[in-house]
Amino acid sequence: MQRTSIGEIELAFVDRGSGLPVVLIHGFPLDHTMWNAQIDALSASYRPIAPDLRGFGQSDVTGDTVTMEQLADDLAALLAAIGIDEPVVICGLSMGGYVAFAFQRRYSGRLRGLILCDTRAANDTTEMAAARREMAARVLHEGPAPLVEGMMPKLLAESSAENHPELSESLRRVMLGSDRQGVAAAALGMARRADVTETLGEIDCPTLVIVGAHDAISPREEMAAISRAIPHSRFVEISGSGHMSPMEAPAEVNAAILEFLATL
Ligand code: MLT
Repeated sequence: MQRTSIGEIELAFVDRGSGLPVVLIHGFPLDHTMWNAQIDALSASYRPIAPDLRGFGQSDVTGDTVTMEQLADDLAALLAAIGIDEPVVICGLSMGGYVAFAFQRRYSGRLRGLILCDTRAANDTTEMAAARREMAARVLHEGPAPLVEGMMPKLLAESSAENHPELSESLRRVMLGSDRQGVAAAALGMARRADVTETLGEIDCPTLVIVGAHDAISPREEMAAISRAIPHSRFVEISGSGHMSPMEAPAEVNAAILEFLATL
């Protein structure tokens, strides 16, 4: 991994291949390794850039609350720091999708394409936001374990969990290794993220929407509605996958992404 400073912090990131840059934004509370299969597949023809977001993986941790806008600004600063000024493809899963929406709203001129994986356009209900704030306080005191126990059963489709125990192990290891302050800060940021449902029609770049058919966090129907609301969007459902479709079905997700990138 490489590191670069962006303002007051350093971000760690993988930067491989050459050609059109494709920024891969991980979910919560994970790191860039969830994209390993996509980094390998894309780097033959493109330039995948997979950061650990502020507060996660090997990147620096800051602040009490880290908003999705802050994380999007970090990505813009990372691209500038490594000399990329041409339009890029932004691809985010779940929380990474919230960051992708924030990037789209703030830097739409910098987007060549958008890939939304297993994510949501709606923000948290009052109850969800309150539960998140409660969990953030718990994580600060107890570490990420209670959060991980709550999330694990929702991440993978039943068949993936049964047939690929290594996926659960790797997710659990990364999540349990995450920094309590980084996790809490992003949770508080997600609790106050914007609802982008009404502005999906303003997304004017080519967009690919990918969802695992059994996603328990970002339901298929909700993602299909996101795709219908975005003017130049294609929708791909990954059968047999849950929330972590890029890890559960890497061949299918890679094929969908490569097919989309070839149209840009
Ligand atoms: C994620 O996978 O990034 C999280 O489930 C997002 C969320 O908690 O809303």
